[in-house]
Amino acid sequence: MADHVQRFLDFIAKSPSAFHAVKHICDALDANGFTPLCESAPWALVPGGKYYVTRNRSSVIAFAVPETGFAHFQIVSSHSDSPAFKLKHICEDEAAGGCYLRLNVERYGGMIMSSWLDRPLSIAGRVLVRRDGKLTTRLVDLARDAVLIPNMPIHFNREVNDGYAYNAQVDLLPLYGGRESKGLLRAEIARAAGVEEDDILAQDLFLYARTPGCVWGARNEFFSCPRIDDLECAYASAAAFLESPAVGHINVLAVFDNEEVGSSSKQGADSTFLTDVLTRAGTALGASDSDIRAAIAASFMASADNAHAVHPNHPEKYDAQNRTVPGGGVVIKHNANQKYTTDAASCAVFSSLCALAGVPVQHFANRSDMPGGSTLGNIANRHASMNTVDIGLAQLAMHSSYETAGCADIAYMVQALTALYTHDVVMTADGTFEIA
Ligand code: CO
Repeated sequence: MADHVQRFLDFIAKSPSAFHAVKHICDALDANGFTPLCESAPWALVPGGKYYVTRNRSSVIAFAVPETGFAHFQIVSSHSDSPAFKLKHICEDEAAGGCYLRLNVERYGGMIMSSWLDRPLSIAGRVLVRRDGKLTTRLVDLARDAVLIPNMPIHFNREVNDGYAYNAQVDLLPLYGGRESKGLLRAEIARAAGVEEDDILAQDLFLYARTPGCVWGARNEFFSCPRIDDLECAYASAAAFLESPAVGHINVLAVFDNEEVGSSSKQGADSTFLTDVLTRAGTALGASDSDIRAAIAASFMASADNAHAVHPNHPEKYDAQNRTVPGGGVVIKHNANQKYTTDAASCAVFSSLCALAGVPVQHFANRSDMPGGSTLGNIANRHASMNTVDIGLAQLAMHSSYETAGCADIAYMVQALTALYTHDVVMTADGTFEIA
């Protein structure tokens, strides 16, 4: 358990952006013998092969083919992105009559804004650069305490503790330098990318919180760090996937970008990415169109995105029975209006897998008078429709720049997803499930 927490905190430290998170997942796939495939080239696949595909370098789908035929796919999906501030294309901005250089940023996703103030921040993402007459991508991480968003002193903002409404274009622009700092950010980004300033053509760069992760609590039962939603599930699903041989079905690991902004990008869960990969994998392995449709219909997916743990100071905001705690095991999420895909069938299958793995299960539903959040399971199902369960791990302070979860849970999720990948979940024509 401690092992997984430490490894997860290491993963967070080296994954300041979705691009970095996906790169480190791909590095682990490379180290485990997976072959990268290119979407714009033909695929030649073999039984027993292990492959992965990236889109935009911020989403990745990996799959492992069994040696002896396959009847369906078993998929775990999660997301690589977290709420943050994105630098605008032209971002250097002299402030207070030239006393300071600040950066012009906009919100990416729905963050708790106050959690980004008065703490060291840095900048990471990717730049497109001109090299040898070509345009190529470089990942960038300034990897130092480089910027900070200062609060107003309380003396000039007496209502700050009475529900102050932060204005994203006024209150949340980070400070980068003093007088005569103009041009230094561009130079620093070029240095970090290993190119000349003039070679940088475009950027997808984000602020990230630098506060290191920590383990804490009376019995060290909690850990806190940035981007727990949803890199905790991305980490746990990758760990389970890499340890699980595929038998009887194709195992699939899917990590999508842009969940925090509705998933509708070319690399999001609301794109053709998953269906393209499943269809092309099936075709390259000799399956007919009809075989592939049958395989997708018989497939099972766990949509893994974190859940809300009951808040110690606001238990009244949570359903009295269907509430969860950090460290209490894997959460199955339910919603009558199908914001979560879970139904009796997928809940029964997934809880049976957890029972086989000896993993405790908790159930989450919102209070009936509270709208909940949404996630990627029902969105992915618009494209590849199959039995799907929405799951996650219980966390506090979702979408804060520094979130909190339970130390015991990462190992529970790895065990539960290992059970999903290693057992064959077979749905027969009459809707009966057999777990082999
Ligand atoms: Co999420």
